[in-house]
Amino acid sequence: MWDADVAIIACSHRAGGNSDAAAELLELAVREAGATAKIVPLRDYEVLPCLACRACAGDRLSRCVLARKDQAEELFAVLVRAPVVVFASPIYFYGVPSRCKTWVDRSQRFWEARRKGDAWIMELRDRPAYACLVAGQPSGQKLFEGARFTLKYFLVNFGLTLSEPLGLRGMDAAGDLASHPDAVRLVRELGRDAALMALRGRNGA
Ligand SMILES: Cc1cc2nc3c(=O)[nH]c(=O)nc-3n(C[C@H](O)[C@H](O)[C@H](O)COP(=O)(O)O)c2cc1C
Repeated sequence: MWDADVAIIACSHRAGGNSDAAAELLELAVREAGATAKIVPLRDYEVLPCLACRACAGDRLSRCVLARKDQAEELFAVLVRAPVVVFASPIYFYGVPSRCKTWVDRSQRFWEARRKGDAWIMELRDRPAYACLVAGQPSGQKLFEGARFTLKYFLVNFGLTLSEPLGLRGMDAAGDLASHPDAVRLVRELGRDAALMALRGRNGA
């Protein structure tokens, strides 16, 4: 059962890298602002690829045939329940890492449910989402665009509206983030903003 104000979804395949460092900074900043946060590392969950079987389209409750075979639904429960969601992700080939994309594809049943107007999904509360994206390249005008679009159209099915992501460039080796004080400050500010949104939601604003 999800019980924190802010869910921080850590998407890297590498433990202890830059986006993990960002996730920890976010968690700290949320706590300092008076809200609660939990990090959910995607690499700890088994997620099978969507079979594109379209069973969810024909099912009365838009269920997935793989639901009991892996942990994708456990992760979706976080997106359904968390008051605020923040993604901390590296950029892999201009997009999100494959494990994250595999999970995104499995959300097809939520897209189908929304298309059909299923009550259980239409009644989900509108909530805010954020992303901190970390890339090795120092330049590239559209470096974060692939990940931004994927996350935006994934999250909207859960009633989550993604704000403009925080994109951090030129961070390749694990530990690079820590040696960029400006980036650390921006990540902490993002965490504080997420916490304030959660606290506002708690007070019914
Ligand atoms: C498979 C793979 C693909 C990558 N593709 C890109 C890319 O397209 N653009 C980029 O700037 N960096 C790319 N990188 C570099 C990572 O974004 C960078 O090392 C980042 O700091 C990794 O985050 P992490 O430390 O949280 O794992 C790639 C890294 C890997 C492992």
